[in-house]
Amino acid sequence: MKLMVTGGAGFIGSNFVRYVYNNHPDVQITVLDKLTYAGNKANIEDLLGDRVQLVVGDICDAPLVDRLMSQVDTCVHFAAESHNDNSLIDPSPFLHSNVVGTYTLLEAARKYDIRFHHVSTDEVYGDLPLREDLPGHGEGKGEKFTTQSRYNPSSPYSSTKAASDMLVHGWTRSFKVRATISNCSNNYGPYQHIEKFIPRQITNILSGITPKLYGTGKNVRDWIHTEDHSRAIWTILTKGKIGETYLIGANGEQDNKTVLELILKLMGKSPDDYEQVKDRPGHDLRYAIDSTKLRTELGWEPQFTDFESGLKHTIDWYTAHEDWWQAEKAAVEAKYAKQGQ
Ligand code: NAD
Ligand code: DAU
Repeated sequence: MKLMVTGGAGFIGSNFVRYVYNNHPDVQITVLDKLTYAGNKANIEDLLGDRVQLVVGDICDAPLVDRLMSQVDTCVHFAAESHNDNSLIDPSPFLHSNVVGTYTLLEAARKYDIRFHHVSTDEVYGDLPLREDLPGHGEGKGEKFTTQSRYNPSSPYSSTKAASDMLVHGWTRSFKVRATISNCSNNYGPYQHIEKFIPRQITNILSGITPKLYGTGKNVRDWIHTEDHSRAIWTILTKGKIGETYLIGANGEQDNKTVLELILKLMGKSPDDYEQVKDRPGHDLRYAIDSTKLRTELGWEPQFTDFESGLKHTIDWYTAHEDWWQAEKAAVEAKYAKQGQ
């Protein structure tokens, strides 16, 4: 396989490149990444060489994309602006990278008959009510996202991801692009940018800064270890049915307050040693994935089923890799402080 990975220097993309590098020695990988604030060459530096090359460039650069796509047979598309809070400050890069970028790649996939996998998010479905607000605490049917759920995005980020999914649908149906889509829940693990919830709180504690919880902390996210996400994408890429969408999730629902208290406990702090800050406008209440289709049709199962132990490994990684995040910490916190968060 000659594989192009867009966004392969970001959090999930670099973990995927590492996963393929370690498990599939026959695959040749070209990473196309613009190295935005969220991309970091260091994430894949040790892999660069005969089997992995990095091209620094924009997925909206049509001549570049055309040239690179003419040299591969498969593309896994991660590149995107990925942070909701940033999309509320300035949506424009989200339109550029997430919508125009996906369009540019699809045009090349169409021209060169590339097997294309589009990496998307559960946020395209909007949010679910909190279980405590559902009759019978949501144990009945319909309390999780399925591939039948209605697209109902809440933020500029999630609406541009929803738009990109729609482009993939259109190009698959009308131009027979051999594409699949996956919508995954919240990832955690090494190499995640410190603007995101879990690494922000870990690095806050390591820096002597009080952790910050948005609003009440009742909002629920469905956590999955990024390595389980990588294996799921590989499974869909190699066994998935063209034109299908697969939801990826590991039954990892936790409310934010519980996650923060667990981080504090694992780092030897008092569980109430945090600050409640201004809530995110339009803050989605709950995400929960029904991944039955992926499990039953393609045989995927998550391996990181113990969230506490996965979180502990993640804390250990940030503790051991202070040089990876330290230089950016002050600027990230200054940006949040401006928003009252
Ligand atoms: P990230 O922000 O850590 O990384 C994004 C990468 O894309 C960076 O390396 C960046 O430099 C690159 N990039 C951005 N715009 C680009 C452009 N125009 N051209 C080339 N490269 C560009 O993001 P992530 O958290 O690793 O997310 C990766 C993908 O997975 C995204 O599509 C996101 O929507 C999706 N996703 C993320 C999660 C999550 O929990 N983080 C869950 C489900 C789906
Ligand atoms: O569901 C998948 C999505 O998960 C991906 O598509 C996105 O790319 C990814 O960023 C993530 O989106 P969230 O908005 O859920 O992730 P974030 O890490 O920003 O926030 C997780 C939760 O924690 C959310 O409810 C907001 C809250 N939060 C976040 C920060 C940064 C806090 O309470 N405090 C914080 O400091």
